Amino acid sequence: MTGAPQTQHMPVLWAPVLTALAIAPTGTYLDGTFGRGGHARGILDRLGPQGRLLVMDKDPEAIREAKALAAGDARVRVRQASFASLGEWSETAGGLDGVLFDLGVSSPQLDDAGRGFSFRNDGPLDMRMDPGAGSSAADFVNRADEAEIARVLWVHGEERQSRRIAKAIVARRAEKPFERTGDLADVIAKLLGRGDGRTHPATRSFQAIRIHVNAELDDLAAGLDAAERALKAGGRLAVISFHSLEDRITKQFINERAKAPPTIRRSVVEVAFTPRLRAISGAIKASDAELAANPRARSAVLRVAEKLAVAEAEA
Ligand SMILES: C[S@@+](CC[C@H](N)C(=O)[O-])C[C@H]1O[C@@H](n2cnc3c(N)ncnc32)[C@H](O)[C@@H]1O
Repeated sequence: MTGAPQTQHMPVLWAPVLTALAIAPTGTYLDGTFGRGGHARGILDRLGPQGRLLVMDKDPEAIREAKALAAGDARVRVRQASFASLGEWSETAGGLDGVLFDLGVSSPQLDDAGRGFSFRNDGPLDMRMDPGAGSSAADFVNRADEAEIARVLWVHGEERQSRRIAKAIVARRAEKPFERTGDLADVIAKLLGRGDGRTHPATRSFQAIRIHVNAELDDLAAGLDAAERALKAGGRLAVISFHSLEDRITKQFINERAKAPPTIRRSVVEVAFTPRLRAISGAIKASDAELAANPRARSAVLRVAEKLAVAEAEA
């Protein structure tokens, strides 16, 4: 069994994820966010010849790497799609022993200026995980009305200057439509100033537009539902979030299925509540050693739950 791979994309919380999934050698596991396969290879190492690893990613480059892995390993199946649609994949029909979502973007996506995710490396303003589907970030900032841009910046970026930024975007695009990440980053930096020098002033806006363009929060909600349905009793769900919006959705999802809501707990009349999940952990964060090796792990939060058997749930 190998340790965490030292590749271009260092998988975050690698060892805690593999512990959390409690991998059975004959089990079927789904990695919904293959990326460069750091976690996937760890799962494969723990599977025997009868085990199965199903991998998904929206990104064609991630899928190319996954297919290369599958070409040399008959236990691997690959599908390019959002994990939100995992239940539509016939390979999941027999039930899953574990599901992993390692959310957000990968280092190769961020580092390749051509993908248009980065405000530091100028590139086409795209931000789509699957550049072959949906509308780009440029389409959004050039076409959406001012109120919609402000809403997205506020809701998905918690950007307090959302209205001012939306106004500046609309004023600038009237002169010349946005084409490059650098254009957008400059407009925001000019408006907000350089800030504390540590965080680029466009950080929140870029996060918000990326989440919107890729429908990340809708996908997460749908993916969690689909994972719960596809898991076998005793199967594990592991989700790594990188910001509070994702973590809130995941935490609420697990809590709502694991604990009776306070209104039921305090009720004098008996109200039925059947738990469907058991929380295996609270928020798991990176160790100091991991943080020293990989600063990207700073904002990562892992949550883990186990699907309960119906009989156990109703006991
Ligand atoms: C943080 S990286 C995953 C890294 C991976 N665990 C590894 O060890 O290399 C996130 C990956 O998930 C993909 N992704 C994000 N949201 C997705 C979704 N809803 N469905 C499928 N793939 C998604 C991205 O394209 C990206 O490749």
